[in-house]
Amino acid sequence: MKRIRIAIDGLSASGKSTLAQGLAKSLNYLYIDSGAMYRAVTLFALREKLIGHAGELDEEGLIQSLNRIFLTFRFNPASGRGEICLNGRNVEKEIRTHEVSRHVSLVSKVSPVRDKLVRAQQRMADGGGIVMDGRDIGTVVLPDSEIKFFMTASIDARSERRYKELQKRGRDVSLEQVKENLIERDRIDSTRDHSPLQQAENAVVIDNSDLSIDQQFEHMLTLINETLNG
Ligand code: DC
Repeated sequence: MKRIRIAIDGLSASGKSTLAQGLAKSLNYLYIDSGAMYRAVTLFALREKLIGHAGELDEEGLIQSLNRIFLTFRFNPASGRGEICLNGRNVEKEIRTHEVSRHVSLVSKVSPVRDKLVRAQQRMADGGGIVMDGRDIGTVVLPDSEIKFFMTASIDARSERRYKELQKRGRDVSLEQVKENLIERDRIDSTRDHSPLQQAENAVVIDNSDLSIDQQFEHMLTLINETLNG
C-alpha cells in the first residue's frame, strides 16, 4: 500500500489536531503538528525577552537567533504522539499557554521563521506516510500532497472547544478572552503577506460546527481510502 501525505489546514481551534492525530493513528502514519513548531519559536522568543511587555516583537533579534533554535518531535508513549522539543527539552505543555497563544501569530508573520520551519516540515514529509496540520500545509508546505482538507467551524463552536480544553488544564482564562484571541489570530493568520491561511483549490472543506468528531473522522477516512485505492 502506498504511503501518502495528508494535509489538514484550517482556522484556530477548528478541531484539526484531534482529527489529524486520530487519522495518523488509524493509518499508522506520522503526525506532525506544524503549529507546535511556531509555538515553540514563540516560547523561545518570550524566554529570550525578544517580546516586550506591550507585546512588541524584536524581529531582527529573533532572526539573528534562529540558528540557536533546534526543533524536534520525540515520541511519548504515554500520549501516543510525537511531542515538540525545543533545544532538546520537551515543551509540549509550555507552548499551550495563553501567553504563547497571544503572541504566536506575530512570530508566525516573520518570513525567515516561516522559511526555516517550512523547510523542516518538507523534510519530515519526504518519505510519505504523514498527516500534517497547520495553516499553509496544502498551499505552501506540501502543495502536491495526495489529499488536502480544510477545516472550519463557527467562532462560537471554536471558542467553546478551546475554552473547555484550557479549563481542563486548569487555566484561568474567560470564554470571552479565548474568543477574542481566536478572532485576532484568525485575522493576523489570514491577512499576513507571507503564506496566509488560505484554502487550497483542491481541498475538501469540512465544516464541523455541527458534526461530531466521529462523523468527521469517518468522512475523512472514507475519502483517504478512496485516494489510496484510486
Ligand atoms: O494550530 P495552532 O493554533 O497551534 O497554531 C498556532 C499558530 O501558529 C497559529 O495562530 C498560526 C501559526 N501557524 C502558522 O502560521 N502556520 C502553520 N502551518 C501552523 C501554525
